[in-house]
Amino acid sequence: MIDQADGRSRVLVIEDSKADQSVYRRTLHEFDLSFADSGESGLARIAAEPFDLVVLDYHLPRMNGDEVLAGIRAGASPELPVVIVTGGGSENVAVDLLRRGASDYVTKDELHTPRVASAARGALERHRLELARRRAEEELRRRKDELEAALRQLQEAQAQLVQSEKMASLGQLVAGVAHEINNPLSYVTNNVAVLDRDVRIVASLLAGYRAHLGDATPGSLREAGERVDIDYTLANLDRLLRSTRQGLQRVGEIVAGLRDFSRLDEGGRKQVDPNEAVRVTVEMIRYQVRQKDVTLLVETSPLAPAWCNPGQINQVLLNLLMNAIQAVDAGATIAVRTRSLPETGEFQIEVADDGPGIPEEIRGKIFDPFFTTKPQGVGTGLGLWISYNVVEEHEGRIGLATEPGRGTTFTVTLPVRTSRDPA
Ligand SMILES: Nc1ncnc2c1ncn2[C@@H]1O[C@H](COP(=O)(O)OP(=O)(O)OP(=O)(O)O)[C@@H](O)[C@H]1O
Ligand SMILES: [Mg+2]
Repeated sequence: MIDQADGRSRVLVIEDSKADQSVYRRTLHEFDLSFADSGESGLARIAAEPFDLVVLDYHLPRMNGDEVLAGIRAGASPELPVVIVTGGGSENVAVDLLRRGASDYVTKDELHTPRVASAARGALERHRLELARRRAEEELRRRKDELEAALRQLQEAQAQLVQSEKMASLGQLVAGVAHEINNPLSYVTNNVAVLDRDVRIVASLLAGYRAHLGDATPGSLREAGERVDIDYTLANLDRLLRSTRQGLQRVGEIVAGLRDFSRLDEGGRKQVDPNEAVRVTVEMIRYQVRQKDVTLLVETSPLAPAWCNPGQINQVLLNLLMNAIQAVDAGATIAVRTRSLPETGEFQIEVADDGPGIPEEIRGKIFDPFFTTKPQGVGTGLGLWISYNVVEEHEGRIGLATEPGRGTTFTVTLPVRTSRDPA
């Protein structure tokens, strides 16, 4: 609504008859009136000045009411209310005009009556109400958007909190366990080395005695030696010690793996061989793989060192691998593959399973925080959301190929260096 200094609405009357114009001056005296005496000049004024309402004579020379109305609706103020004044007895034309967007109509016969002013007031009031309704609706929509955004932010913040707690406690747990095992492991390893050396000394001493004494060995000692089969025992001790050393070495590797893995955020971004992330993560899930009785294929190909946060990449891989293990039945095959894409300066890590696939109706939601199809206590629905964020942070992307009944492949594509890394 236009704010006139005197509070009156600005009305443009498009009317070619001077006699009728003076009638309007009387009947519409409550408005701030302007006149145009042709459709063309009327449209030109509407384009140049702000009006609240148009009173339009339907019968104009050259341009009729239809065309002027269409011109207004197609112009700069398409919503301007328009009251049409038709010749008497043309109700059909009037109804048709209302359908095309006229606000109201009066007939020429009513020109001298208060009907014209009341039609103008009605049209202005309806327009005012319509604008207010739209403003309220717009405000409502804006508030709804705001609320939705706030909800999303809240969910993300909550997810982030759960994620960091989850990762921090997992990292601490793993680091703690690794540390605890490491202590006994180091003294057992030492003891075994000493034992190995001492057993060899004892064995060579024994061999020395036996060679020296020969046939002079007392019968009771010879008998005792035969009873335990001393040659076999000595050979066996050697085998036992060798396999104990190997076992300890394996435990040492596992502990080192746990430590590598739990060094989640230590040091931030580094240049590393991504195949190393595959190696340490696969090491972490050996137990689950064996327990579920699935075959895990690791098919890496040589990769250039990549700038990344290795702890976070381990986390992505762990999430994808755990999802695959949880999705498949015993006897399934899970494959981890890496490949280099030298032409784009990227590489890919792919986790593929031949499990049940992901139904179409949930594919759009699996990356949402807290979306899970697993029973409470098994899944929090954060794995893929975390992975998505980590990959995005690394300026990469996650691809999904899945077919119900046939399996699922997640492909993580990452740049060898992001825009933040030194060239
Ligand atoms: N390899 C897969 N095969 C079939 N469904 C999968 C696979 N990976 C993910 N999904 C589906 O996507 C959902 C979301 O996975 P996401 O890792 O985000 O959460 P989650 O595994 O349920 O819980 P969390 O990872 O927090 O323990 C899963 O609940 C599952 O329905
Ligand atoms: Mg998961």
